Amino acid sequence: MPLRTGILGAGHMGRTHAGVLARDRRVLIAGVADPEPGRAQQLAADLGVPSYRDLDALLRAGLDLLVIATPNRHHSEAALAALERGVGVLCEKPMAINLPDARRLCEAAARPGAFYVVAHNRRHAPVYRRVQALLREGFRPLLASFKMHEGDFRTPPWVSDRTVSGGFLYENLVHFFDLMEWLVAPISEVFCLARGPLYPDLNDFVIAVAFEGGAIGALTATGHASWVHPAERTELVGDHALVVVEGLDRVLHSPGEGEKVRIEECGGLSREERWGYVEQDAEVVEAYLADRRPCFSAARALRSLEIAETCAQAAREARPVRPGPPPTD
Ligand SMILES: NC(=O)c1ccc[n+]([C@@H]2O[C@H](COP(=O)([O-])OP(=O)(O)OC[C@H]3O[C@@H](n4cnc5c(N)ncnc54)[C@H](O)[C@@H]3O)[C@@H](O)[C@H]2O)c1
Repeated sequence: MPLRTGILGAGHMGRTHAGVLARDRRVLIAGVADPEPGRAQQLAADLGVPSYRDLDALLRAGLDLLVIATPNRHHSEAALAALERGVGVLCEKPMAINLPDARRLCEAAARPGAFYVVAHNRRHAPVYRRVQALLREGFRPLLASFKMHEGDFRTPPWVSDRTVSGGFLYENLVHFFDLMEWLVAPISEVFCLARGPLYPDLNDFVIAVAFEGGAIGALTATGHASWVHPAERTELVGDHALVVVEGLDRVLHSPGEGEKVRIEECGGLSREERWGYVEQDAEVVEAYLADRRPCFSAARALRSLEIAETCAQAAREARPVRPGPPPTD
């Protein structure tokens, strides 16, 4: 029996997931819902499936899995509604736009039989899989530098509205809070400078962190850089060794003095492959069908929001702040 999957939100990411999942033979796209009828109908017509006005109607079509790709404000409510009806959830990041909603979801996701996963796609991107392999081979980062300099914090228009997106930390930087802990170690202390020169909400961040075990790191991020590619860069500095990730396209590894620099190119892959969507969605389907816990836990998704709130507090109070302990999984 194919996995009956509904797509909630027929914008950029709804279309991306629908395209990826429609190519998976284990999946049947059962319908698309979006309050903008033109959008739902267009994507539904492209897929040859029914369109619906809202989540209730989509759930009544009978789903195993709901993909939530709406603006962030709707994520937690839609996920809870699906989980309450026994439907599994693959939700775009962030899991919620505040901590109380995120914690409610964690509780719901922990109930027996619940299937809930948040799309932290960089964990599945080939470049970061390569970095994980280097870490397993023994590379130890002592200093880590992360950069996300994007060109436009207005596309789509709702992202710069904090009441809809949760703000730049929730909309953009959650990816990096998760990556920082995944690639280095749990964050033990945060200091943060934040400004909002060109948008109503804060969108310039310089964040310094200490990691458990002694490494240190920095994340600089903005929503008003140029559109020059790649907009993001990760550098992990070891003992006279270096790993650089350029965008989601290329990993450069300098293992040590006198040793050959190795470069792994991913630029030839499709966007969906490079950004990790193909592998992520395939793993979600596999986990659901195998009746096992998804690849990325709700507690991890919550942790990325807790770090976001720690940064916000550090910026507000102009002092270093220590986050709570990381999840144990
Ligand atoms: N993981 C990634 O790489 C990545 C990249 C971009 C966006 N995102 C996330 O994906 C989500 C969607 O972003 P997008 O760029 O596709 O936005 P978008 O504006 O292109 O699409 C959102 C769609 O949701 C619809 N919508 C609004 N309210 C709805 C509701 N209550 N129910 C159903 N549909 C509703 C809108 O009409 C629109 O068609 C966001 O949470 C965003 O943070 C993730």
